[in-house]
Amino acid sequence: MYEIIRPLLFRLDPERAHTLTLRALQFAQVSPISAILHRIYGAPTKPVLVFGLEFPNPVGLAAGYDKDGQAWRGLASLGFGHVEIGTVTLRPQPGNPKPRLFRLRAEEALINRMGFPGRGAQYVADRLGGPRPPGLVLGVNMGKNKDTPLEDAAGDYQELLRIFAPLGDYLVINVSSPNTVGLRRLQARNALEELLQVLSEERGLQETRLKKSVPLLVKLSPDLQPDELEDALAVIDSKGMDGVIATNTTLSRDGIGATLAGESGGMSGRPLFKQSYSMVAQISLLTKGRLPVVGVGGIMGPAEARAMLEAGASLVQVYTGLVYKGPGLVKQILSGL
Ligand code: FNR
Repeated sequence: MYEIIRPLLFRLDPERAHTLTLRALQFAQVSPISAILHRIYGAPTKPVLVFGLEFPNPVGLAAGYDKDGQAWRGLASLGFGHVEIGTVTLRPQPGNPKPRLFRLRAEEALINRMGFPGRGAQYVADRLGGPRPPGLVLGVNMGKNKDTPLEDAAGDYQELLRIFAPLGDYLVINVSSPNTVGLRRLQARNALEELLQVLSEERGLQETRLKKSVPLLVKLSPDLQPDELEDALAVIDSKGMDGVIATNTTLSRDGIGATLAGESGGMSGRPLFKQSYSMVAQISLLTKGRLPVVGVGGIMGPAEARAMLEAGASLVQVYTGLVYKGPGLVKQILSGL
């Protein structure tokens, strides 16, 4: 089926195609279509216990696909064990000027410089209450607004944590998007230490208030040098974070011959796998497998997912694979594990 739909979608501007797909899923979730999708794409159950949460299977949707939390129930019917919405910013913002999303078809890659466009935390929070698809784990990925100075970033994350602690099963501190100027500097030892100190204290307050645990993960860039990664992991561990997501998109253009390689932004998809896989393996080694890792970057089928899990990831996520391989990808991966 996707063989018929893909060429039509690929004839459209990439962001337009994405918006249409999201709208279709949004429509599906309030209609019987969702049950039909679930019957076609519903994946075998392979439970995973991690961060104190039970995931029905290890395959999730990576952040950035459903930024405003509009279609996560529809997305769940494609077989995902978890869906991570966001990145959500505190206040609404337009993101970068369009075009800001590009397909590198021959490489099965994307370049994006979206810059966290979104309707802001309140709009998203209003979409997260109410019934959940059975078993689905919901993550919320949080980022700072473009106009929040870097030195005030902790305030944005702290407020986001307060808003989303009651609504998400786990929360993600995104300090690795290459499309918000300066954001990745928050991964440096001192900056990360200050940020995570504030957030771990706020998390404690929220856990007491809500009488539930609030798992906090940090999403990392694949462009960190080995010593930077080691520093970041030491801080993440000392501040009691529950895990890391490795990785976000890369500024590297390795493995890309396309003319579009000159577009600025983060690259995702097949050429990213080598980097994200190697980072997952390094993290497992450095933390002796004690820190749960979510492996993401270039997973296009069961082979890459299996490799990530064997390298030490507890869960995997996909984004670009879904664009190129279609909605059957989750079931295909789970059947092939
Ligand atoms: C992303 N990604 C992303 N990550 C994040 O933490 N917050 C975000 O808002 C976004 N936005 C976003 C938009 C687009 C268009 C893409 C392609 C990607 C990164 C994404 O979650 C994932 O980490 C990378 O894309 C690598 O995985 P794939 O795409 O190679 O499976």
